[in-house]
Amino acid sequence: MCGIIGYSGPLEARTILLDGLSQLEYRGYDSAGIAYFDSRSQIHVVKKTGKVANLRETFSSISDSSHCGIGHTRWATHGGVSDVNAHPHHAGQVTLIHNGIIENYHSLTQEFQLEASLVSQTDSEVAARLLDIFYEGQPESAIKQLVNRVEGSYAFCIMFNDRPGEIYAVRSVSPLVAAYTRAGALVASDLTALIPYTRNYFVVPEHHIVKLTGYKISICDPDGKQVSPEMMKVNWNTDAAMKNGFPHFMLKEIHEQPEALKNTILPRLTKGIPDFTDDQIPDELFLGCDQIHVIACGTAMHAGMVARSLLEPLLRIPVTVSIASEFRYEEPLIDEKTLVIVISQSGETIDTLAALRLARTCGSRTLAVVNVKGSTIARESDYVLYTHAGPEIAVASTKAYSVQLAALYMVGCRMALVRGRFTGEQASAFLAGLLDVIPAMETMISRKDEEKNLVTHLLSQHDTFFIGRGLDYAFSLEGALKLKEISYIHAEAYAAGELKHGTIALIASGVPVIAIATQEHIFSKTMSNVREVKARGAFVILVTQEHASVDPDLADIHIKIPDLDDRFTVFPIAVVLQLIAYYTSIGKNLDVDQPRNLAKSVTVE
Ligand code: G6P
Repeated sequence: MCGIIGYSGPLEARTILLDGLSQLEYRGYDSAGIAYFDSRSQIHVVKKTGKVANLRETFSSISDSSHCGIGHTRWATHGGVSDVNAHPHHAGQVTLIHNGIIENYHSLTQEFQLEASLVSQTDSEVAARLLDIFYEGQPESAIKQLVNRVEGSYAFCIMFNDRPGEIYAVRSVSPLVAAYTRAGALVASDLTALIPYTRNYFVVPEHHIVKLTGYKISICDPDGKQVSPEMMKVNWNTDAAMKNGFPHFMLKEIHEQPEALKNTILPRLTKGIPDFTDDQIPDELFLGCDQIHVIACGTAMHAGMVARSLLEPLLRIPVTVSIASEFRYEEPLIDEKTLVIVISQSGETIDTLAALRLARTCGSRTLAVVNVKGSTIARESDYVLYTHAGPEIAVASTKAYSVQLAALYMVGCRMALVRGRFTGEQASAFLAGLLDVIPAMETMISRKDEEKNLVTHLLSQHDTFFIGRGLDYAFSLEGALKLKEISYIHAEAYAAGELKHGTIALIASGVPVIAIATQEHIFSKTMSNVREVKARGAFVILVTQEHASVDPDLADIHIKIPDLDDRFTVFPIAVVLQLIAYYTSIGKNLDVDQPRNLAKSVTVE
């Protein structure tokens, strides 16, 4: 949550900060602000509720040049959405931006008698005031004192009145990456803000103090010793974070799925079989476990639900899926014989990270399926399998979900092979089935007008139900989430056989039911449930494979996906469900890419 950026260098700082904030806006968009040194070395703070575009307008009339500044886009936690609660916060000598939560801000306020001086309701201003108290002309020493006193998660970027051209940064848990580039020194909460300037970057080590000036970046460890950063390289390009002619990032990212799948699958095939040698994931990891525990949040957790439905019958070992925010406070029944798979697009979701840490303390071996290279979850997990979706900007996840699934399907295939559940031939046939989904997704993308037309019925609705059994139920969960997130229509996914235990009371004339029936062995059962809702007046949107024979009276709209092995239908269905959500949001004139109250990267509890 919250996007933060700092820049010091020869270029116009305000432009770099505003452009960076636009790239980071998916992290939060309640308000935005920047602070910069002007040509007379005075700090100016400008902040406003609303989106970055709002802030940008303020600057159209300012001509004075600036070469050093910090910027923030906020997702409110402490204190409502208001100009005064927006960052940066200024206190005496200090101007600061913050991502995270200072959990002991209340007791610090009392201990240092800050009540009278606070102008906002934020925990971040408490940190700024405290730092100002500690500051006696030595930034490092003051920041160290601050770090010793605050509890919680934080990434701070700080400027001091008497230190023009300098930015200081420090973090605990909350992410920060930095790079010295030809354009100058940059620090940001994530890579998308850096990729216009460089592919080489480093992750700011926790509790180290980073100092940025126009000509270098220096890093001190907690003992004050200068250290060199561990450089990383990202292969994303600038285009990947642009809309490239699409009206929205979400639509662009839906279109990118076939390519993202190829990038994730193909480099890991040896003779048509998944091979994780280059990822340094040994087969022994897959052999030495007697259960799998998948942990994630949101869409990534839904990818885990699909994985469970696939892996348990395939491997014949228990596969459990946990919501990370629950798991982290449980007493999980896992041990060194448990393979824990954590899934995260960003690699920074705080609950998933905490769950990973807990799993490691239980002695389990951990495999992270992550999209962002070098992210905290990737670094802390025993093993990492990177998905290659490129940057995902729309808040509603699409391509990240598909590649997470692809990665999990590959893990399942490799595990089945090394555990003797698959012969080599069966493994390559399974993989061929996985590759077949790529043209199937392309077909569904090319037929997107079907979804565009069908949503007219959804636009005026308050409730929608998604039903399916087995794997189809697991896909439905994600379909319902997508619709809720961006159209604000209440949507619930139900195991089709469970409808009769209450939910069917909500099915009345015209209520949309999106029924997914792609699994041959339970097809007739799901169709019976479709009949039940149809008999009560539901507006049925039915999704089946091409070959399925369906009574034409049963479905108001029938969407057919290309025929596939039943285990792989999730991929084209994901496209259908994503497009239904997308066009419903468009039809309601909503902000598809940045839906209300949400943020892409949830780095606070
Ligand atoms: C947020 C995003 C979702 C995402 C979830 C988990 O809620 O809006 O799209 O699925 O976080 O994020 P992660 O980065 O861990 O996959």
